[in-house]
Amino acid sequence: MALLTATPAPTEHLSSVRPARLRDRYGRPIHYLRISLIDHCNLRCVYCMPEDENHFTPKTDLLTPAEIEAIARAAVSVGFDKIRLTGGEPTLRPDLVEIVERLAHIEGVRTLAMTTNGLLLTRLAKPLKEAGLTRVNIHLDTVNPERLRQLMLYNRFERVWEGILAAEAAGLTPIKLNAVVLRGYNDEDVADLAALTLERPWHVRFIEAMPLGPQATVALERYVSNQETKAHIEARFGPLEPAFDGQLVGEARMYRIPGALGLVGFISPVSEPYCDSCNRLRLTADGKMRLCLLTDHELDFRQTLRTGGEEALRELFVRAVKAKPVGHQLRSGIYPQIRGMSQIGG
Ligand code: 5AD
Ligand code: SF4
Repeated sequence: MALLTATPAPTEHLSSVRPARLRDRYGRPIHYLRISLIDHCNLRCVYCMPEDENHFTPKTDLLTPAEIEAIARAAVSVGFDKIRLTGGEPTLRPDLVEIVERLAHIEGVRTLAMTTNGLLLTRLAKPLKEAGLTRVNIHLDTVNPERLRQLMLYNRFERVWEGILAAEAAGLTPIKLNAVVLRGYNDEDVADLAALTLERPWHVRFIEAMPLGPQATVALERYVSNQETKAHIEARFGPLEPAFDGQLVGEARMYRIPGALGLVGFISPVSEPYCDSCNRLRLTADGKMRLCLLTDHELDFRQTLRTGGEEALRELFVRAVKAKPVGHQLRSGIYPQIRGMSQIGG
């Protein structure tokens, strides 16, 4: 008790003291919250959404900006300091700028990022930056316009490209591009994507396809390991130089093509699982907290918010962190069924 009431050291004013990060049962500090804003998307990437998908969360079931802010505030009060907005496609929320503004004003949010397909960034990059967004990851699977249309249905290369340039001009940097590699679709295009880093300070990251939800079979049948993708890139550019001492940065292992301005990264959830350094929880657009991307276990945060309020939310965060599973079980052929990637947000 005496400890709790002790006068803080002069440098430790209470307002600037960060809450300690929560740790889960496996000792992992959990401090990164991904918030899916909507499960709708204006594309249909083949590994993510069936072409005829038309069941989406009704607007009235989506969390409101005020509810998203309340959950984020509770998260920050238990030590979360990084937030990423995801989808579906988050830019389809008409109230996106308001949401960013609300979250950016929470003291203790160090990074506020967003994952997007880039299509609407020409219009939104500047207002989002002004509202307090730190940076964006843009999803681009190939620079070949014809194959882009086959893999990311309805996408147009010029439009994403303009979106990327708008994000860079607005200062949403470093620009990170994400590509999911699938055999027969874009596995021949990885060196062209990597070449974007030669003269630009961008990070181009290759992601192994994960089987989940309705598109699981596509990911299973067309899976390409990052070892193969890296070899493909090295066949054109020679050996890649490890960056950051070869350590994982987030979930990516980063490299540089000799002499390049930018970096090439590999996110390998299937061949090299990084569950033991997982630091995140995922909130779905309808207010369920997903404890692991690849495990169908969720807690109902919206219900608690509506009936219990702030203290109850904080307690639920503690419970959620304690209940986080050790990792995925893809190697045993167990993968999640109830939600696809567009309903969780990657
Ligand atoms: N496997 C791996 N990554 C995926 N994404 C979407 N579906 C999959 C999948 N099956 C990624 C996209 C996007 C983010 C939302 O998730 O690259 O950037
Ligand atoms: Fe939309 Fe992203 Fe899914 Fe593609 S991966 S369909 S852009 S949510």
